[in-house]
This record gives sequence, C-alpha cells and structure tokens, in this order.
Amino acid sequence: MKLAIIGAGNVGGALGANWAQKGHDVFFGVRDPKAEKTQALLRAIGGKARAGSAAEAAASADVIVLSTPWPATEAAIRSMGDNIKGKIILDAVNPLTRGPDGIALEIGHSISAGEKVQGWAAGASVFKTLNTTGFGNMANPVFNGVKSVMFVAGDDATNKPKVIDLIGELDNDSRQLLMAYLDRREPRWREHAQGDAGARQASSATRGKMTEEEAYQILGLQPGAGAQEIGRAHRSLMKKLHPDQGGSTYLAARVNEAKEVLLRTHRN
Ligand SMILES: NC(=O)c1ccc[n+]([C@@H]2O[C@H](COP(=O)([O-])OP(=O)(O)OC[C@H]3O[C@@H](n4cnc5c(N)ncnc54)[C@H](OP(=O)(O)O)[C@@H]3O)[C@@H](O)[C@H]2O)c1
Repeated sequence: MKLAIIGAGNVGGALGANWAQKGHDVFFGVRDPKAEKTQALLRAIGGKARAGSAAEAAASADVIVLSTPWPATEAAIRSMGDNIKGKIILDAVNPLTRGPDGIALEIGHSISAGEKVQGWAAGASVFKTLNTTGFGNMANPVFNGVKSVMFVAGDDATNKPKVIDLIGELDNDSRQLLMAYLDRREPRWREHAQGDAGARQASSATRGKMTEEEAYQILGLQPGAGAQEIGRAHRSLMKKLHPDQGGSTYLAARVNEAKEVLLRTHRN
C-alpha cells in the first residue's frame, strides 16, 4: 500500500519503519526533507522509504497518516490541498496542551479532535487510531510477551476493513488471536463490538461458558500460568482495552472473564 506519513518524529518514524519493513511504500511528508534527522531516519529504515513535502507525499498515497503535533495539524492538512480528496486518513494526533496542572486536553469535552480533523479534511475519510498508546508500543506492540490490541474509530464502513488490516499488521498475532477466539465463541461479535449498546446485549448467557483453554488464549498465557502471571497479563491487556483508554466495553469484559475463569481454577 502507498502510505504518506505526515510528520517524521517519534510516532511517524516508528510507524514508517514498521510498515516499510512490511513492504509498504512509505513516503514521509515533512517540512524539510533534507534535514539530517529526516535523512538519518531514511538511512535507519534502510532506504525503504522516501521524504518530500506533505503535499507530494499525499499526492502519491492511498492512505495518509497524521503524526503532527496538534497545533500544527490544521496547517499540515491544509498544505496537502486537494491531494487528500478520496484518501483514507489515519489520525494519531492527540489534542494536547500545557495547562496549569501539566499536560491537558485542549478539546475533547464537547467535540473530539477526530471530528475537528475530519472538518479540516473534507473529502477524505478520517479514522482515529494509534493515539491511545506510546510510539514505542507502535514500533513493538508487545507487553510481557502479550501483544496489544489497537482500536480504530471511523464512520466509513467501506474502508474500515482496509484500515484494520493495515493497523493489524503492526500487531498481527494478537489481532488474529483475539479475532479467532471471538469468531469461535460468538460469530456475531463484530456487530456487538460496534458499540457499547451491543456490548451490553452480548451477555454471557448468549456466549456460553468460557473454557480454561480459551481464557489462557485470551490472556496470551501458557496453560498452568500462576496467579501472578494471570494478574500481570490481565493488567497489561486492560490498559489497552479499558474503555477509558479508547477500548470497547465488550472486549474488556472478555478479558475480565478470562481472568476470573483462571483465578477460579487456581482457588479450587
Ligand atoms: N509520542 C507518542 O508516544 C504519541 C503517542 C500517541 C499519539 N501521539 C501524537 O502523535 C503526534 C506526534 O507526536 P510525536 O511524539 O511523534 O511528535 P514529534 O516527535 O515532535 O514529531 C512531530 C513531527 O511533526 C512534524 N511537523 C510539525 N509541524 C509540521 C507541519 N506543519 N507539517 C508537517 N510536519 C510537521 C515535525 O517536524 P519538524 O521536525 O520539522 O518540526 C516532526 O517530525 C502528536 O499529535 C501526539 O499527540 C504521540
């Protein structure tokens, strides 16, 4: 896939390196393509990526990734002009500002940054994703041996599967693990996962009892793992799946259930 990554800092660099290694055509859109830090990044990626202006990168791409600081994001989008029309935009930006108590959200209490970005990027399909974790985790999404799950939010149902596939490549094993589990347990989980309302309807009564084997798979543990390991794996996954972190109630409930099943076994 042809990817334009706007901003080649922590996030842009980690994502670009990861996707370039997977064989995607990565084009960084930066303010100064000749800057030594950009050239160093291209060298580190082994010549598998290139750099130019944001407009050039967007013109060549099917998918544009925004990894700019929030205050620069509107200008970066506008600098791409009509080259964003009909494209998919992955928005990893957090609308952060420095308030009296440290880092704070500049917006997000009555409108989201994703909605603002979609407003600036008319004619493109914006998906909010990748912003709920640190760039180190984007480069290597593994925690205590357990790979993390990444969430995608956007209302373009036609392009969503393409986005999920691309994001899933950063974290292929855990995505396949969780999806395979969910497909076995509840073939209609994708409908439930659309929203919390669906999640609430997906009661354990309709799913049946989770087996120990499935619980180990969900937590990414080997059979016989100890209570401490179970607790650690649960905490690690919940950090990624908890609704407060942009996760879904449905998936968080499955992870909680897996912990309960295994701890019950330990108690008996
Ligand atoms: N760091 C994280 O772990 C993390 C995690 C989740 C989300 N995020 C979000 O991701 C975004 C990027 O974070 P970061 O840590 O990667 O920041 P960063 O290291 O400071 O990188 C920002 C990049 O954006 C470029 N940039 C600035 N203004 C630009 C413009 N007008 N046009 C094109 N490029 C421009 C900068 O280029 P110059 O070098 O030329 O200034 C730099 O390459 C932020 O919105 C942040 O909230 C970060």
